[in-house]
Amino acid sequence: MYPLNRNRRLRANESIRSLVRETIITPNDFLVPLFVTEGNNLKEEVASMPGYYRYSQDLLEKEVKELYKMGLKSVLLFVKVPDNLKDNKGTEAINRDGLMQRAIKTVKNAVPEMVVMTDVALDPYSSYGHDGIVENGVIQNDESVDALTEMSLSHARAGADFVAPSDMMDGRILSIREALEEEGFTETGIMSYSAKYASAFYGPFRDALDSAPVDRKDIPKDKKTYQMDYGNRIEALRETEMDIDEGADIVMIKPGLCYLDIVRDIKNEFDVPVAVYQVSGEYAMIKAAAEKGWLDHDAVILEQLTAIKRAGADIIASYFAKDAIRLL
Ligand code: PBG
Repeated sequence: MYPLNRNRRLRANESIRSLVRETIITPNDFLVPLFVTEGNNLKEEVASMPGYYRYSQDLLEKEVKELYKMGLKSVLLFVKVPDNLKDNKGTEAINRDGLMQRAIKTVKNAVPEMVVMTDVALDPYSSYGHDGIVENGVIQNDESVDALTEMSLSHARAGADFVAPSDMMDGRILSIREALEEEGFTETGIMSYSAKYASAFYGPFRDALDSAPVDRKDIPKDKKTYQMDYGNRIEALRETEMDIDEGADIVMIKPGLCYLDIVRDIKNEFDVPVAVYQVSGEYAMIKAAAEKGWLDHDAVILEQLTAIKRAGADIIASYFAKDAIRLL
């Protein structure tokens, strides 16, 4: 007796495999994170992210033109703020001539069609490296929400299409949405980091922006009082539901690979676009293993990105976006 149903018939060669393939990634899936720094003619490699760079404004302009030519039509901006501009309240975050505000205009002027999203959290601006304001060793929720709301307005005024709050304070989406409406920014969207876990995979990003929590006895050295505990799943659904109720247009899960069960849960439960952030530590792991010759760089990238989409991602924020396009 032999099997009548032979699944291998559908795997016999690449032509049939491609005919029945359920998930394929395309340039339309990607959101490209970009690191911006002060200065001129600077393209600085991030030490723990080989092949990934911080750009000064002039080179940022070149980079976004290149991305758009490749079919990559949305970017997520982050800035590296000079130390002397940092304080506990993240005052520099609302400077109308600040690095972020200028970067938004640079990208919009270079490629008006590019969707510009901006990270909203105080950490790159905070002298303590926290996403909110710290008092007596505690990250203050409501005071931070006020600051993040002002920051969002400032990004909207500079021309951001979407603000992306990555801070995990309670109630910030409602506050930001209401403020945007009041100022007439009815078309400015919110992509909320809804299920953002307190993860050890953000290390290289904090190197890139010099934004890690400071090592001081009176300051929490991790973000566990606001980012989620990685043991939790139901809580991710609750966070996401609240953000949608408060006005989020897009929700995000972060990091990627370790949290694909959460991605599927959220995709099944809600009807807004779902973004997934394949974070800096995930990038670094692949780069390091590939450098040693232990993993096939290109094959692993495609497998991971496809898995993220298969799990339910409509949008993938990834440092590998350009690599993916090259490989498609
Ligand atoms: C800022 C922010 C972080 C990341 C995105 N926005 C760092 C953090 O929360 O500490 C991490 C992205 C990455 O690791 O690639 N709040």
